[in-house]
Amino acid sequence: MSGIVGYVGRKQAGPIILEGLRKLEYRGYDSAGLAVGSSRAFHVRQAAGTLRNLQAAVRLDPIQGTYGIGHTGWTSGRANLADPDRTSRATHSGIIVAVAGKPSNLAAQRAKLPNALRQSARTDSEMLALLVGSHLENGVSLEEAVRRATAGIRGSCAIAAISKQEPGKIVAARLGLAAMIGLGKNENFVTSDVPAILSRTRDMIQLEDRDIAVLTRRGVLVTDWEARPVSRPVHHVLWDPLMAEKSGYKHFMLKEIFEQPRSIRETVLGRLNEESGKVVLDELGVTPRELREISHLTVIGSGSSWHAGLIAKAMIEQLAHVHVEVEYGSEFRYSDPAIDERVLSLVISQSGETADTLASQELAHEKGSKTIAICNSVASRIAHTARGAIYTNAGPEMAAASTKSFASQLAALYLFAMHLGQVRGQLTPAGSMRCARGILGLPGLVETALELAGRCERIARQLAHAGRVLFLGRGVHYPIALEGARKLQELAHIPAIGCAAGEMRHGPTAIIDADLIVVVIATVDPAHRSSQLRYERIVAQVRELAARQARVICIANQGDRRISEYAHEVIPVPRTHELLLPVVELIPLQLLAYHVAVLRGLDIDQTLDVGRSVSSN
Ligand code: BG6
Repeated sequence: MSGIVGYVGRKQAGPIILEGLRKLEYRGYDSAGLAVGSSRAFHVRQAAGTLRNLQAAVRLDPIQGTYGIGHTGWTSGRANLADPDRTSRATHSGIIVAVAGKPSNLAAQRAKLPNALRQSARTDSEMLALLVGSHLENGVSLEEAVRRATAGIRGSCAIAAISKQEPGKIVAARLGLAAMIGLGKNENFVTSDVPAILSRTRDMIQLEDRDIAVLTRRGVLVTDWEARPVSRPVHHVLWDPLMAEKSGYKHFMLKEIFEQPRSIRETVLGRLNEESGKVVLDELGVTPRELREISHLTVIGSGSSWHAGLIAKAMIEQLAHVHVEVEYGSEFRYSDPAIDERVLSLVISQSGETADTLASQELAHEKGSKTIAICNSVASRIAHTARGAIYTNAGPEMAAASTKSFASQLAALYLFAMHLGQVRGQLTPAGSMRCARGILGLPGLVETALELAGRCERIARQLAHAGRVLFLGRGVHYPIALEGARKLQELAHIPAIGCAAGEMRHGPTAIIDADLIVVVIATVDPAHRSSQLRYERIVAQVRELAARQARVICIANQGDRRISEYAHEVIPVPRTHELLLPVVELIPLQLLAYHVAVLRGLDIDQTLDVGRSVSSN
């Protein structure tokens, strides 16, 4: 995913923009560029490959100027900033445009250009610069030219533009993709992603869709798509800038795996009365009375968030006795769901920007269903569109593959299930206290599970060259089997399948042989009857898998002697309640996928993340 950064103030803009682009590296890119202006000229530097190449270009040919914009992007290494000479030749106006995300109908806009220019635009930035320039020639301001040029643009992007004719001004526009304005003292910033400017300011404005912002050193003016001045709330972002850094870890993903005790604590903090076990969700936006009137829930998500939805189903049905349907965002958005105002929809999304999930949320609203966002990004479209939200407060998740946000989603969903059970009279005070003790103890159990990192790194060597890996789980552990398989696919590019263990006999048993590695989730909560019944079946299956020469790796309870009799490797995790075990057994699966990917020399943090924020097919 590409990203943009802009600065206007008294300081040299170049170093600030480069620092911001470095914070966006995790989003993946293959080229980067920046343009810095002074009262007299623009300096443009751009380079294919990593930011180091751009920094070298700037060192080789230094730039001066107190305002400017830059971006990282996927342009197959081509120049990715509009070249002012090319655009000035084309439009005599010297405009630079930086684009984050992907406009979806730029080709159709080409027809709006004068014939002489139609073929000259090679990248999205140049196309937009030419469009803006063609309006500037009518003598309008840069912000009006941007408004007119983007009026017909569709897709999900954020842009920033500067013009030689209006030095000291940056114009930013939000066209779907998040765009943040950072407010400073005699300086202001624009970015598509908070971490890029967090070390410079914590006071930020989230532009709304189609907003246009004009930034100068003295201030920021925001107008809507009809050029009406609007006031947008200023968020004081509490994220610790260091959380947006690797802090000594080799990859963001490893850092975020180890941040999970903290992120779970942050999710629970202030939402649970430790004496009574009562849950308080201030931003839910749905009253206890409305919660008592719902007929059932729909839970919508994509990727790991959909796996969290499957676990939410077990939590809500067991703690609140309300039926739950779980839907993929990519399926629900194209369906004709039989839901109405009596159905409450939970929309799960770390980024709050995944197009399929957002489109499904809008469909739920069309059907009359209220939605609640389970989200990690306060200023995101899904959170903004929802009736209310449970923010996971996990801090910025820089790696594309979700880890701490997934664990925090499960904690948030557990709190919601407790709350729903409490307001509907299904969860007694004693039951509430039992649940409260469970979730309050969770961060400590995750810390214990993280001590398995060395064992997981050793076992990862057995998986690094596996041809195929099967992940098995039953009940609430089945979604974790899916998550483990997803992580191995996404990070290590190994063909991995997650399967409900009880389904083995209906097909997958045919692939069992000495080359197959099977990861089985064999944990159990002895106090939970169905957990015990499932566990007995799992033990029998592990015995059969081993007898058929498959290599079996089990995630099991600490001290489980039975599983050790048959499994080749056992990864022992701490015991807890059945509905909280998924958070604990998740840890070794994340570590396994991470270490296998490292052994295979793959790009951990920059997995090509095409699922979020861009419209799916
Ligand atoms: C995918 C990520 O692209 O998007 C997954 O690789 C993530 O890790 C999925 O779960 C959904 O993203 P979000 O932001 O909607 O939770």
